Amino acid sequence: MSGSELVEAARKARRHAHAPFSTFKVGAALETTDGTVFTGCNIENATYGLTICAERVAMFKALSEGHRTFARVAIVAATESPTPPCGACRQILWEFGGDLEVILANEQRETARFQLSELLPHPFDARLLKTEGRP
Ligand code: THU
Repeated sequence: MSGSELVEAARKARRHAHAPFSTFKVGAALETTDGTVFTGCNIENATYGLTICAERVAMFKALSEGHRTFARVAIVAATESPTPPCGACRQILWEFGGDLEVILANEQRETARFQLSELLPHPFDARLLKTEGRP
């Protein structure tokens, strides 16, 4: 799938966003290394704190279907400047997706492109939990 098709999939997913509290709708489309695409949208709830972002919905859908290797993610929000993933999503995308390509877009156009390592340059991850000789 081309980058613009992945963005289009994220735009479609954004239509399902449930964001009555913030009114900030986000869509994501995550491509696995075998070319399968999982989409997600943000889902808010009345406690606010249990809200889940579009990116994590897409990643958890993919993981729960047995996928473990990922190539890139497109994220769409209705902002003129790029809307990059929040800190929690950067962490989850990194831990499960590694150095993904991150394509940001709005309804009209692509707004930016990054490698995830640019957005999360000094990550905490499982490698740090494997240190030998920890007391
Ligand atoms: N949101 C996402 O879905 N992804 C992001 O990366 C940023 C924030 C959602 C969470 C909440 O429903 C709304 O956008 C406002 O923060």
